[in-house]
Amino acid sequence: MEIRPYSESDEGAVAKLWHEVFPDAPSWNHPETDIRRKLTVQRDLFFVATIGSELVGTAMAGYDGHRGWVYYVAVSPKHRRQGVGTALMNRVEQELTQLGCPKLNLQVRTSHNEVIEFYKKIGYTIEERISLGKRFEKKDDRLSWIS
Ligand SMILES: CC(C)(COP(=O)(O)OP(=O)(O)OC[C@H]1O[C@@H](n2cnc3c(N)ncnc32)[C@H](O)[C@@H]1OP(=O)(O)O)[C@@H](O)C(=O)NCCC(=O)NCCS
Repeated sequence: MEIRPYSESDEGAVAKLWHEVFPDAPSWNHPETDIRRKLTVQRDLFFVATIGSELVGTAMAGYDGHRGWVYYVAVSPKHRRQGVGTALMNRVEQELTQLGCPKLNLQVRTSHNEVIEFYKKIGYTIEERISLGKRFEKKDDRLSWIS
């Protein structure tokens, strides 16, 4: 298994993986749009896991100068429980640490118990918070990334 930075030729495989792993993703999480937007900001913190020529996992991280965040941590169902998710998170943690990042935050849906178990296993703890957000993008804006 190799963990390496994303390259443009991975787009189709990453989008296919995300459609498989996140079938109920909200409509604003459009894979190609999210990938292309990430390539404009800290693209070197977007990682893929490969086994041979097959792309089997992803992790998209960022550092805002205070905290690190990670999104799209995903492993192909047939490659789970083989350490791929752990390897992706280890790489993210190493890279963020090198940048001076003191802490990594992430969000998981409360119903995703198995994902919560994964993060607990690798050292994360539940912090009682309410997650708030405000969307800036209008529905059609995201299409500009792929048109
Ligand atoms: C969560 C996920 C990334 C884990 O990837 P993975 O490659 O299977 O994880 P690992 O093999 O590194 O697992 C490490 C440890 O975490 C725990 N773990 C992993 N998956 C688990 C599960 N489904 N149930 C309980 N514990 C689990 C285990 O302790 C495991 O060690 P073990 O296999 O020796 O028992 C993967 O299941 C996934 O893609 N899930 C769906 C996507 C998702 O919702 N991502 C989170 C968005 S933030």
